[in-house]
Amino acid sequence: MVKESKAKKAIIIGATSGIGLDMAKFFSMDGYVLGITGRRKHLLEQLKEELAGECHIKSFDVSDDSAGEELEALIDEMGGMDLIIINAGIGFVDKKLPWEKDKITIDTNVLGFTAMANTAYRYFLKKGTGHLVGIPSIAALRGGPAPAYNASKAYVSNYLQGLRSITARNKTKIVITDIQPGFIDTAMAQGGGLFWVASQQEAASQIFTAIKKKRKHAYISKRWRLIAWVLKIVPDFLYHKM
Ligand SMILES: NC(=O)c1ccc[n+]([C@@H]2O[C@H](COP(=O)([O-])OP(=O)(O)OC[C@H]3O[C@@H](n4cnc5c(N)ncnc54)[C@H](OP(=O)(O)O)[C@@H]3O)[C@@H](O)[C@H]2O)c1
Repeated sequence: MVKESKAKKAIIIGATSGIGLDMAKFFSMDGYVLGITGRRKHLLEQLKEELAGECHIKSFDVSDDSAGEELEALIDEMGGMDLIIINAGIGFVDKKLPWEKDKITIDTNVLGFTAMANTAYRYFLKKGTGHLVGIPSIAALRGGPAPAYNASKAYVSNYLQGLRSITARNKTKIVITDIQPGFIDTAMAQGGGLFWVASQQEAASQIFTAIKKKRKHAYISKRWRLIAWVLKIVPDFLYHKM
């Protein structure tokens, strides 16, 4: 008789670099069987070699039409799933607003995110339980110098809230977590004007803890709660000078 593994299973969508890469290390060290994704296959293979525990890799672009099927195939390969973290995201600050940059931001952060969240949620609905995590940003709270990025992150946060609302009405046991980081020291956070920048490892550690505690929402690092409060109340004439 084949004994079913009791180890918890998690998928991190977007684990080739940055926060996702360090989150993979925390979950692997905690004994999770991991599924990791991203477009850069060689980085997935490299990370798999580094991780001590069982790890499955799947390379795909979240904005491709087949992305949902790729996620389903990874869940099947791993024999089910407990936790899905949608971390993949992209952003640019470019005052000239080239359309290509806005489009790739929307394709990844809105279309790609929805393909992943929709697939993951429908899977958990069928299973009756599960934990879905999205990583928007503090940028979700207000429009900013990267209009498409901020708007896309507002979408992510709002979509997660919608899923939580459906879950409450259906009385299912699906947990939805909305992680809103401030500035984190990764390839994405470039340029001047950055402050209270958390290291990649510190951010991943705090996100790991928030997920383990099944929090509904967390600011990363914690002191960004203060900036969130300011963003919500500061009038436009002051906001535009910040
Ligand atoms: N860094 C910050 O200050 C900050 C602040 C707030 C929120 N965030 C959010 O945190 C998340 C992680 O960002 P990060 O700073 O760690 O950046 P990062 O190092 O650039 O990591 C982004 C991850 O997303 C994956 N990804 C991007 N586009 C993808 C696509 N089309 N298909 C599949 N995977 C894709 C990348 O993998 P491949 O390139 O291999 O595909 C990579 O693994 C993002 O959602 C970001 O918006 C970051």
